[in-house]
Amino acid sequence: MRKIIIDTDTGSDDAVAILMAMFSEEIEVCAITTVSGNCHLEQATKNCLQTLEIANTYYPPVYKGSHKPLFRDLFTAKGVHGEDGMGDQSLIHPTIKHHDGHAVDKILELIKKYPYEIEIITLGPLTNIAKAILLDKDTMSQVKQIYSMGTSGLGPGNCTPVSEFNVYVDAESYKVLLESGIPMTIIGFDICLGDSALQRKEIDLLMESENKTAHFAIQCNQRLYQYNLENTGQEFIDLPDPIAMGVLLWPEIVEKELKTHAKVMTNQDETYGQVIFYGDKRLVLANQYQSLDKNVSLVTKINHALFKTKLINILKNSQKNST
Ligand code: RIB
Ligand code: CA
Repeated sequence: MRKIIIDTDTGSDDAVAILMAMFSEEIEVCAITTVSGNCHLEQATKNCLQTLEIANTYYPPVYKGSHKPLFRDLFTAKGVHGEDGMGDQSLIHPTIKHHDGHAVDKILELIKKYPYEIEIITLGPLTNIAKAILLDKDTMSQVKQIYSMGTSGLGPGNCTPVSEFNVYVDAESYKVLLESGIPMTIIGFDICLGDSALQRKEIDLLMESENKTAHFAIQCNQRLYQYNLENTGQEFIDLPDPIAMGVLLWPEIVEKELKTHAKVMTNQDETYGQVIFYGDKRLVLANQYQSLDKNVSLVTKINHALFKTKLINILKNSQKNST
């Protein structure tokens, strides 16, 4: 049984990714750790607890982590996911509580308990992971794999022209991870748009289903839907974190990957949070970059139809007695 830790800034797309994990019998979620990003740590933690109650399958411990980035002030995405990070639909009233203990300590504890078995999926800024590496690099070197929803991949940024939100919030933490040597699979924002996003007909399909979990997955993304409509004129819900979870759960959806060297910009100017990938053979200087260590595997293409079929199935067929 695969053992995973989910590190999340539980906004509305994170919530769908958590639901996917909680209904997947091929993995065991050993813990969920929360971090400030889409919303502040306290809200992200409440959102996570509520999502576990909606799933109502089993209840991994939820540990609170970093309330702000390593060095910078916190920058959130309330305009995108809502004040509460979950669409401002009055959905968040958890009755369960988080567990005592700091996320960073608990991540290290689990890796010591299960050396070379733990896979970590990061759905928010990397502050907790970076702190764990800085605190105990040897233990973190025993992480089996990190799947990271982050960077803009080979496309434009969604936060600035060159940087994606999870990296932009805390690029210094991303740098710590990229330089750690931990095996890393990156799912960039570029593969989360277009046909990979839920379109109007798929949104309606889930809302018309009998399943409360499916309704919750759409309702909590209402602000994201409105944000997209206001900014693009198109009706869709992009799901970056569920795609990252899909890559972890269903590797068969991955059609192309690029083993490459990645470097993140942390200078405090227009390029802050930009992640440069050096593996593109079309580059005039590509040969010069061949000697750089290939520290990441970047997913550059997924089978979006297969991803959405699996996602919709798991949401529509999740247990009927979910709250
Ligand atoms: O850029 C998209 C990422 O930023 C997603 O993880 C979303 O939840 C936000 O955290
Ligand atoms: Ca997220």
